[in-house]
Amino acid sequence: MDNLEKIVSAALEQFSRIHGAAELEQAKARFLGKAGALSDLLKGLGKLPAEERREAGSRINAAKDRLEAALAERREALARAQLDARLAQEAVDVTLPGRGAGRGRLHPLTRTQDRIEAIFRSIGFDIADGPEIETDWYNFTALNNPENHPARSMQDTFYVDQKDASGRPLLLRTHTSPMQVRYARMHEPPLKVIAPGRTYRVDSDATHSPMFHQVEGLWVDEDISFADLKGVYTDFLRRFFETEELEVRFRPSFFPFTEPSVEIDMAFGAGPNQNQWLEISGAGQVHPAVIRNFGLDPEQYIGFAFGSGIERLAMLRYGIHDLRLFYDGDLRFLQQFP
Ligand code: FA5
Ligand code: MG
Repeated sequence: MDNLEKIVSAALEQFSRIHGAAELEQAKARFLGKAGALSDLLKGLGKLPAEERREAGSRINAAKDRLEAALAERREALARAQLDARLAQEAVDVTLPGRGAGRGRLHPLTRTQDRIEAIFRSIGFDIADGPEIETDWYNFTALNNPENHPARSMQDTFYVDQKDASGRPLLLRTHTSPMQVRYARMHEPPLKVIAPGRTYRVDSDATHSPMFHQVEGLWVDEDISFADLKGVYTDFLRRFFETEELEVRFRPSFFPFTEPSVEIDMAFGAGPNQNQWLEISGAGQVHPAVIRNFGLDPEQYIGFAFGSGIERLAMLRYGIHDLRLFYDGDLRFLQQFP
């Protein structure tokens, strides 16, 4: 059976030189397959005398096991080498700089609100925030809007399917003015605050949006006059628009919570469209009934308030004719605000 040893060492030698999986399977067929070298030996067993047959058979089977084991080992080595090669090829250089995601930027309305806050903070105003779902009392009644008074319909209101503790309807605040009352009832005068935030009305056209932003202003002390309102507000506009050349008009108007009341308009437009007016704010001297709802004595305290549209201020600052552009989410528009 010297032949057997020769076959085994030839097989082992061939297996170890093979580098491809398919080639290895071909080599396996050559030695272990039906027509392979070992099978030939097995077929020859029949010719041996019976007493030698048993011994020879077990040697051939042992040789077969050795070759099977060698094949398995080689297969594994090849697979490992293939994986190593792939990992080396697909290696990621973690020291390379990143691809860089596009940088976002602040929305023009956010920038406008930040600007308004910075200006008022610099002249000593506090900044307050309050609920967007408001009670009927804070939004209307406390502001001297009697129930069933027609002035309530000046602001077409979104009501919420829920009531407050006293069974009165809840609503999306139609203006930031309820913050006057909330703030005044929690602070000691002098009161000097702005309250920017979202407001809601059943409104929709180029200068009206169902959700929009206002900034409320309130200054209450013992000797504040209407002249202070004009002075503070005009100064704010000059700083906001960064120019002294502003055409502003204070137009007499009506609000239940101020007396006297004005609306503030600004001129805009150029060429043939010159001298158009856009309303930016309501304002006035706080009504004595409202001072009382602040928990203060109207004989002692006086003040002014305003409520300005943040979209309107942004439209005028950036020359935008339709406020709906702020809400379309069109990057070609938004990217123009660096
Ligand atoms: C008010 O809302 C009063 N609360 C303002 C006020 C406050 C008066 C304090 C006196 C004292 P008015 O309804 O006019 O007023 O709205 C104020 C401003 O909000 C408007 O001048 C306008 O700039 C803006 N505005 C109103 N409705 C919309 C809307 N649908 N879309 C965008 N801006 C609006
Ligand atoms: Mg108005």
